[in-house]
Amino acid sequence: MHFSDLIQSRKSIRGYQRKPVSRELIDEIIAVAKWAPSSMNTQPWHVHVVTGEPLERIRQGNMHNMMNGVPHQRDFPMKEEYEGEHRQRQIGIAVQLFEAMGIARDDKVRRTDWVMRGFRQFDAPVSLVLTYDKKLEPAAISQFDLGAFSHAIVLAAWERGLGCVINGQGIMQSSVVREHAGIPEDQNIMICIAMGYPDDSFAANQVKSVREDNEQFVRYVGF
Ligand SMILES: Cc1cc2nc3c(=O)[nH]c(=O)nc-3n(C[C@H](O)[C@H](O)[C@H](O)COP(=O)(O)O)c2cc1C
Repeated sequence: MHFSDLIQSRKSIRGYQRKPVSRELIDEIIAVAKWAPSSMNTQPWHVHVVTGEPLERIRQGNMHNMMNGVPHQRDFPMKEEYEGEHRQRQIGIAVQLFEAMGIARDDKVRRTDWVMRGFRQFDAPVSLVLTYDKKLEPAAISQFDLGAFSHAIVLAAWERGLGCVINGQGIMQSSVVREHAGIPEDQNIMICIAMGYPDDSFAANQVKSVREDNEQFVRYVGF
């Protein structure tokens, strides 16, 4: 697949077949994605590939904490509420997803269930937890590097017929992920990526998100 087709055809996958993903294939994807650039070639990432029982325990722990109102705990500061155009775009993708799933605005039960899917890592067979060493703090540039690496992972997976969703919800209870994935205390958890074979019958997988026109966010200087 040409790069332009690959990047434009990829979309987040939020429903998966129960089919397992082989360790060899995941290793091949990571071997490709690690060619992502990083600041001064520091390659500040660790990848914890989780499946089976430990992933089940993460799903259960995440849901238990969320149902019991345990406050979010991430390993890095984050703005909790978007505003203005960012909020509008956040609402835009939520509306697309809820419409596809047939979830009405006032259907609290199904909305809650949808949110819980995120904490269950969208029931994907595999979750890749990306971390970096705490000693890199203040780590904005390393976090940037993990972003580049994440995109490379989801593209390499897509090229091989696998779907992913980069999943911030999955690490909102970072102590749960740390405990069940056995993540060392000297690493910060940045993000997780749900991965598996897409379930084409899952309506939300048909959603294609939108992007702004270049004129909205590009300035050319000195042309
Ligand atoms: C850092 C990051 C965190 C994300 N967290 C979530 C999440 O918690 N739940 C979710 O459904 N999608 C999550 N996504 C997926 C975005 O919603 C998705 O990338 C965006 O809407 C654009 O859609 P696309 O990936 O299909 O192009 C996340 C994406 C990124 C990059």
